[in-house]
Amino acid sequence: MPEIMANTNHGKHPILIRTGAIAQLGEVAARTVRTHKAFIVTDSIVEGLYLQTAKDALAKADFEVASYTIPSGESSKCEKYLFEIYQALHDFGMTRSDLVIALGGGVVGDLTGFAAATYMRGCHLMQVPTTLLAQVDSAIGGKTGIDMPFGKNLVGAFYQPNAVVIDPGLLKSLSRSRMAEGMAEVIKYGCIRDAMLFEAIEKGQADMEWMLERCVRIKTTVVQNDEYDTGERMLLNFGHTYGHAIEKVSGYTKYTHGEAVAIGMLKACEIGQKLGVTPDGTKERIQAVLEKWHLPTTTDLPMEELYQTMLSDKKKLNGKVYFVVLKEIGDAKTCPLSEQELKDLL
Ligand SMILES: NC(=O)c1ccc[n+]([C@@H]2O[C@H](COP(=O)([O-])OP(=O)(O)OC[C@H]3O[C@@H](n4cnc5c(N)ncnc54)[C@H](O)[C@@H]3O)[C@@H](O)[C@H]2O)c1
Ligand SMILES: [Zn+2]
Repeated sequence: MPEIMANTNHGKHPILIRTGAIAQLGEVAARTVRTHKAFIVTDSIVEGLYLQTAKDALAKADFEVASYTIPSGESSKCEKYLFEIYQALHDFGMTRSDLVIALGGGVVGDLTGFAAATYMRGCHLMQVPTTLLAQVDSAIGGKTGIDMPFGKNLVGAFYQPNAVVIDPGLLKSLSRSRMAEGMAEVIKYGCIRDAMLFEAIEKGQADMEWMLERCVRIKTTVVQNDEYDTGERMLLNFGHTYGHAIEKVSGYTKYTHGEAVAIGMLKACEIGQKLGVTPDGTKERIQAVLEKWHLPTTTDLPMEELYQTMLSDKKKLNGKVYFVVLKEIGDAKTCPLSEQELKDLL
């Protein structure tokens, strides 16, 4: 089974990618942590699909297991459920040497990761992502956190797991639109770092396990070089500066994150072309792939509002907006743009 070793400032941890890996959770847990006590956090949809399998796998390796289920959806990534998880961990007698497992999409992963980072100042953590977006993105890299009334992801911690277990078989139950949402990130990885991955998707020849491995390798490498998100990690923001603005302006309801990123990647190509960095024809190739996945390619949101939102983006540094553009498919760079330059380019 492909096993990638992530090297971080806090040591190494394995990332396993294999269809059926969920049945081996117990073995993986037993070889990465010393305890025999595990606590699973999941959500109300994943609970009915995979919780029992996960529990059985852990029990088979002699783990004492308990679980807590949050309601499915972004609104659960908040202080209320964080505190309920702390209470449940306490009630189960969890100590810092015991294992917390996040079984779910990015919401469960971020919330549970933050709970594990802070409960008793940090206990063991295993990420078991169940959406494509979580498998290629949120479960890798150690960012955890919750949403606050004043904004998304504004309280959190960098906290690396002891292991990540990725089972592509779990994606079978995902809706087409959720798959497409994750595919927007997969396409992004191809665009910024991996022309071969992009071409395989373009030809419809990408095997899921192979694709996951390519994406996870890219994210772990980029994060390894920039664990605290101050430089290279910015490249992962391709399509996200404009995408985040779309999400914000439309009130996080009209577009999913992946849909907004899809539109953002094409806008970044237009800007790159105007700057003379992105070759002609690049946008059209990406657009064709996005359309295959029924992802949107334009928005009718007012440009002035999108522009103002981009200016207030937290990734703005020294008065400049750092826009990621493609030098070609498979290679990207950041372009610092002044407010006026950005306005003219839009
Ligand atoms: N930490 C990071 O680096 C990082 C990166 C990107 C996104 N995120 C965060 O991730 C979150 C979004 O993640 P998401 O898209 O996975 O959302 P999600 O966790 O809400 O999952 C999406 C939906 O799919 C359901 N689901 C999960 N697995 C399923 C399966 N196997 N079959 C059927 N249904 C399933 C969930 O119940 C939910 O309804 C956001 O909160 C975002 O901020 C974090
Ligand atoms: Zn994203």
